[in-house]
Amino acid sequence: RLKKAKATLLVVGLDNSGKTTLAKTIQGFSGDAEQLQEGDILNVQPTIGFKVEKVDSPFSKGLKLNIVDMSGQQCYRELWQTYYEDVQGILFVVDAADHRRFSEAREALLGVVKHSELEKKPLLLFSNKMDLRHAGTGAQVAKEVGLNDLANHLQRAWRLQGCSAITGEGVDDGIKWLISQVK
Ligand code: GTP
Ligand code: MG
Repeated sequence: RLKKAKATLLVVGLDNSGKTTLAKTIQGFSGDAEQLQEGDILNVQPTIGFKVEKVDSPFSKGLKLNIVDMSGQQCYRELWQTYYEDVQGILFVVDAADHRRFSEAREALLGVVKHSELEKKPLLLFSNKMDLRHAGTGAQVAKEVGLNDLANHLQRAWRLQGCSAITGEGVDDGIKWLISQVK
């Protein structure tokens, strides 16, 4: 029997950026919506350590996704690298409305893109919470997280996508792109 195609996606970024909310929204797109309880997307709790969600990939039949949703809290960031070897794609989430933490996000992103075990692996940068009025524009977020200075480390397929994990806007386009890169 043929083994089912599987891809593992790593979700990282600062605490409170919206990683778990995004993971739930992706699960909702995947046709596993009946597994979601009412309020799941709106009532997420900060992640302790990490959580793996197994979902049927949305937008690509037959592909199974392991979504590794890491905690962004400082004390857990050391854990991120334990998954680097096993993942096919990286999803880095930035809170576009949290202007005070852009430089911290920039440091975290730099650590991710320059890690040797993640070399050449496709990177989707989600500029999340675009539904908030004070959210930065895509260009602003790109500048603040230092995308221009990262060119050396961005030798891979990458994309910056504005989105809202709450409304779902932009999430589908971003995920479609990432899946097309890891398949
Ligand atoms: P850790 O698990 O602590 O690393 O945080 P996280 O990145 O998983 O963030 P989480 O998904 O728990 O979301 C943090 C807060 O941001 C929650 O109150 C979410 O409802 C809110 N949030 C997430 N995405 C969005 C968004 O797109 N728009 C708005 N307005 N709020 C969002
Ligand atoms: Mg979380």
